[in-house]
Amino acid sequence: MAQTIKILIAEANLETRVGLKKLLLTAPVLPGKEIEIVSEAEGVKEVEVLAAKSSPDIILMSTNLKDIGGVEVSCRIAQTFVNSSVIIISEHPLSQDELKKAMLSGIRSFLVQPIDQQELHKVIGEIFELNSQRREKLPGATVSVPVDKPKIIAMFGAKGGVGRTLISTNLAVSMAESLKPQNKKIALIDLDLQFGDIAIMLNLTPAKTIVGLSKEINELGNIDEELLESYLIKYRDNLAVLPAPLKPEEADLIQAEHIERILDLIKNRYHYTIVDCSRTLSESILVALGMADTIILLLTMDIPTIKNAKLSLEVMEKLGFSPKIKIVLNRAYTKMGISIAEVKEALASPIMELIPSDGRVAIPSVNEGIPFVIKYPKSNISKSIKSLADKIVESPDKIKPKKWWK
Ligand SMILES: Nc1ncnc2c1ncn2[C@@H]1O[C@H](COP(=O)(O)OP(=O)(O)OP(=O)(O)O)[C@@H](O)[C@H]1O
Ligand SMILES: [Mg+2]
Repeated sequence: MAQTIKILIAEANLETRVGLKKLLLTAPVLPGKEIEIVSEAEGVKEVEVLAAKSSPDIILMSTNLKDIGGVEVSCRIAQTFVNSSVIIISEHPLSQDELKKAMLSGIRSFLVQPIDQQELHKVIGEIFELNSQRREKLPGATVSVPVDKPKIIAMFGAKGGVGRTLISTNLAVSMAESLKPQNKKIALIDLDLQFGDIAIMLNLTPAKTIVGLSKEINELGNIDEELLESYLIKYRDNLAVLPAPLKPEEADLIQAEHIERILDLIKNRYHYTIVDCSRTLSESILVALGMADTIILLLTMDIPTIKNAKLSLEVMEKLGFSPKIKIVLNRAYTKMGISIAEVKEALASPIMELIPSDGRVAIPSVNEGIPFVIKYPKSNISKSIKSLADKIVESPDKIKPKKWWK
């Protein structure tokens, strides 16, 4: 199978950018490799956002950018995005002084316009090859190589108390257990930034939370995977938790950009990231929903919740999220004055999983801080979580709820 080299192009001039794309995509110069242009940027700010988002292998940095250009900006990008290789493209050969700066900041190569297609492909191929060899030689390289096809699952519910935290925690623990033999790692993130209670449900006393991590991002401009790991609490060998702030007022210190950076980094290391979202569609939550591969819209069988779920579906449809939304019905029960079929009809969507209501299992488990999938693994509610976990792992598209309610 061909290896994909992900490239970000940064160039203010559209025509030059189109020319560069043509040079990259029209010559099969690299055997066994294919080039994918993951993003295009006109200015340095865009480069920062897009590089964080798409983790390119190569950043082709023109010295002609919309906001500020020049060699120094490329050096800054090379120092910030250490996992990407920066190639400078300039109109003129670099001066001795610029060359020195470029070398010191880890710029991998530079090319002068007009660019020779064969040389461009040769340089890209060599850099990519060298990087692959270096990764293989690194001690513990298996840990730092990004995981294959990571998935983010956002647990959203448009009303309080629908069971987001209960289901997220139990789902994460269940997935960690069932995926352990395959060496898969799970992360659980509490994005209920004001009143998050994942820590309580797992009986954890966090010393560090997401607010500290966000402050580090502010101070350092960026964070690496090691720093991220120091903020995660190990709940199981393959399950790490990022707790919400301990005080509601700290929520204001966390911005959407922090969430984006954190999720981006977590994805490199964890196969499945489960995000317990707050009930509001804040900017941070929208970022998480946007980055998610699957959005679980959790609801219970009462009219106000169903109404809010419908409204959320409408908003998310406008945002283009519809294809990844899966409905999960919590506390599903046939004698609720409203039937499961009626809920399905009201939402005009299939239901991915039905979770029974079981206070005798859920309440002691919450109060003791022991997930019910551990404390009561044979209960129906635990079985439904296991079934949900299996569907997420297999393919969220195979929607066939188990008919335990019949
Ligand atoms: N399937 C269930 N069976 C029994 N009890 C349940 C079930 N789901 C949720 N509960 C109860 O509802 C309570 C609230 O659940 P949870 O805290 O997970 O909801 P939430 O959506 O995260 O709420 P919040 O809006 O406060 O974040 C739990 O403490 C639990 O006792
Ligand atoms: Mg909650």
